[in-house]
Amino acid sequence: MNLRQATPADLPFVMETERWFCAQGFVGIDEAPVHQAQMASPDCLYLIVEENGAPAGFAILRGLANPNGSVELKRVAIAEPGQGLGRRFLRSLLQLVFDQYGAHRLFLDVYPENVRARHLYQKLGFVEEGVMRECVRVEDRYRSLILMSLLEAEYRRL
Ligand SMILES: CC(C)(COP(=O)(O)OP(=O)(O)OC[C@H]1O[C@@H](n2cnc3c(N)ncnc32)[C@H](O)[C@@H]1OP(=O)(O)O)[C@@H](O)C(=O)NCCC(=O)NCCS
Repeated sequence: MNLRQATPADLPFVMETERWFCAQGFVGIDEAPVHQAQMASPDCLYLIVEENGAPAGFAILRGLANPNGSVELKRVAIAEPGQGLGRRFLRSLLQLVFDQYGAHRLFLDVYPENVRARHLYQKLGFVEEGVMRECVRVEDRYRSLILMSLLEAEYRRL
């Protein structure tokens, strides 16, 4: 596994992966201009995880310039899930966020039905803060999201 910062050339992979998992109801999706603007922002970091030299997943961090040290894991996806890569990727990501960026808190939201992701986040020490009830409109219905976070002290204890 190799971690590297994404470049604009990675956007087709990022968007294709998020489109695939959006269709399954696991993640949201953004248009190219949104990704391009975020990628250029010092507040954001796009990461690519590679396996055997090829992109295998991505993650988007936001809030790196947040004065409260509250960083958001905006999106994460592994192209071929369920093989242990997500856990290894997220462990490296936690190291990066807390050790390199000195964050105080890493938070994310996840659909209640996404049991695989919730299981993994819980195993990594994330705590459920509550449910944001019917906070996003997806086509013709509203969906809820569970807010989860991991504090630096909790990360260090693990
Ligand atoms: C969430 C995601 C990043 C995790 O990466 P991954 O490579 O699949 O994760 P891993 O294989 O390392 O670990 C998955 C864990 O979930 C468990 N799991 C798999 N399917 C599960 C299910 N249906 N219910 C509960 N747990 C499940 C696995 O057993 C494993 O846990 P274990 O190590 O304790 O056995 C990946 O599945 C993914 O990209 N999913 C689609 C996009 C997505 O949901 N992104 C997150 C949005 S918040």
